[in-house]
Amino acid sequence: MPEAPDVLLLFCLVGAADALYKRWIPDTNYENETNWDKGAVPCGNDVVRFSAQTQVSVFVESAHAVRETRLPVDGEFILNSGGGFYASDGREPGCGPGVATRFKDPGSLRWFDPALWQAAASLDDLRRGRFLFSVHEESVPCRWDDVVFRALSSFRVDTGSGGSSVPVRAVSVRGKVFDGRAEFAQYLSSRSGRLQFHGSSAVTVGNPGCGDPSGCECGNSANRRRICSSVTCASVECKKPLLPVGHCCEVCGAIVTIRYAAGFDLQTYRQRIHHLFLVLPKYKSVQLGMSKVSRSRRLMGIVPFGASPEVQLTLLDGEKGAESEALAWDVVSDARSHGSVLGIAGAEFRASSGGGGSSSDQSGASAGTVVGVVLAVFVAIAIVIVVALIRRGVVRMPSMPSAPSLSSFTRKKDGEELGGPLDRGYDNPMFDNLNMLPDVPGLHGNEANSISITQTGGVYFANPVYDENETDFNA
Ligand SMILES: *[C@@H]1O[C@H](CO)[C@@H](O)[C@H](O)[C@H]1NC(C)=O
Repeated sequence: MPEAPDVLLLFCLVGAADALYKRWIPDTNYENETNWDKGAVPCGNDVVRFSAQTQVSVFVESAHAVRETRLPVDGEFILNSGGGFYASDGREPGCGPGVATRFKDPGSLRWFDPALWQAAASLDDLRRGRFLFSVHEESVPCRWDDVVFRALSSFRVDTGSGGSSVPVRAVSVRGKVFDGRAEFAQYLSSRSGRLQFHGSSAVTVGNPGCGDPSGCECGNSANRRRICSSVTCASVECKKPLLPVGHCCEVCGAIVTIRYAAGFDLQTYRQRIHHLFLVLPKYKSVQLGMSKVSRSRRLMGIVPFGASPEVQLTLLDGEKGAESEALAWDVVSDARSHGSVLGIAGAEFRASSGGGGSSSDQSGASAGTVVGVVLAVFVAIAIVIVVALIRRGVVRMPSMPSAPSLSSFTRKKDGEELGGPLDRGYDNPMFDNLNMLPDVPGLHGNEANSISITQTGGVYFANPVYDENETDFNA
C-alpha cells in the first residue's frame, strides 16, 4: 500500500486534535498530611501504623525519622532518591510527646468519580494549574485522553467492577508514559501496578487520540450511571434549570449550542472564547465547559428522530445564572459576526433565568434568526435552507417537561447495552485471602522485608509477611 505512510503521517499530525490531559488528584504520598488520621505527617516521636489489610503503594519523597512503624500485609514504599527512614530514639526536638498515627485506607477512591480529576488542554496547562471545566461525564477520562498521575506520587484507584475495559490514549505513572497496550498490561500486573489500580475493569492504553479537529464525543455516556452515582447534586434556585448533555445535575446558567461546519476547530475556538471573554473581570466567576456532544433530536419536541453532533458550551456561575446568560449572548453574537471564519453554521442558547419565559425563548429565537441570515449567505441551495429552517424550528420549540426524562431514559438504555450490569461493587481479593494468610510467627521486620533497588534509582520496600504484634521497622 503506497499511501500508507501518508495516511500515517496525516494521522500523526492531527493525532491529538482535541484530546485533553486528565490528572488524578488524590495521592497516597507519605508527605501528604491528608493521608494521616491525625491530619499531620508523623514525626520522629510518633508511632506509625498501617492497617494490616491496607493495600497501598506509598511514595516517600524525603527522609523521615521513625520510632516505630507497623506495616501492612500487602504494600510497598516507593522511595524517592533522598527519601527513606531512619531510626529515632523518640526524643526528637519539636515533635511533641509522640502519638500513634494511622495511614488512612485509600481503598474507596473511584476512577469514575468526576470530582477526583483535573483537566487541561496541555501538560503545560496542567503544571500551571490552568484547568478546564467539564460536564461530569467528561471530567472522567475520555477514550481520547491522556491520563496523568503526578510524577512524584503514588496513588490507589478503584477502576470499578463489571470487567469491561476502560480505554484511554495513554497513562503516565511517575513520569513514565505508557501508550502501548502490552507494556501497560504488563505494568498493571506488576506489584506496583496491582497496588495502584484495583477493580475488575482494566484500564487499557493505546486508543488513538481524537483525530477530528472539530472534537470527538467523549464516549462516557456508557458509564453515566457509574459517574453520576458519585455525584451529589446541589439544589438549584433558578426558574428553568437546565440539564446539559453529559452532566449529572440540573444547573442554573446557560447552554450555547453550536452547529459547526467545515473548518471548525474546537481547540482554537476554546482558546478564542477564553481570550475574548473568560479573561474579562465580569466573567471571572463563570465556568465554561466546551465539547462535542450528540443530542437526540425530537420531532415536535417529543418523538426522537436520530441524534446529531453539535458543540455544547455549558456556562455556570454558581448563582442564578445572570453572568452566564450575559456571556451566552456574547458568544452567540460573536458566532454571528465571525461564524464564517470560525466554521460555525449557527449558534443558539438557552438560559435558566426564565424571566417569564421571554429570556430563554425569545432571546434564543432572535439569536437564531440572525444566525439564520449567516446561514442564508453561505448555503447556496434554496431547498437546503428550507430544510435547515424547518429543523431549527423544531429545535427552537419550547422544551416539553417530558424531554429531560425522555433523554435520560434513552441514555440509560445505551448504558445497559454497552456496559452491561455496571455497579456491583468491587471485589477485594484481600477478603478472600485473609483466612489463608500463612501464620508465620517470630519473623521480625528487618529479616522479613525485601528491599530491591531498581534502575530508576527508586528503592522498593516490600513486606511480604505481616506479624501483627511484632513488626517493628527501624531502618
Ligand atoms: C494531598 O491530598 C489531597 C487529597 O487527596 C489533594 O487534594 C492534595 O492536592 C494533596 N496535597 C499535595 C501537596 O499534593
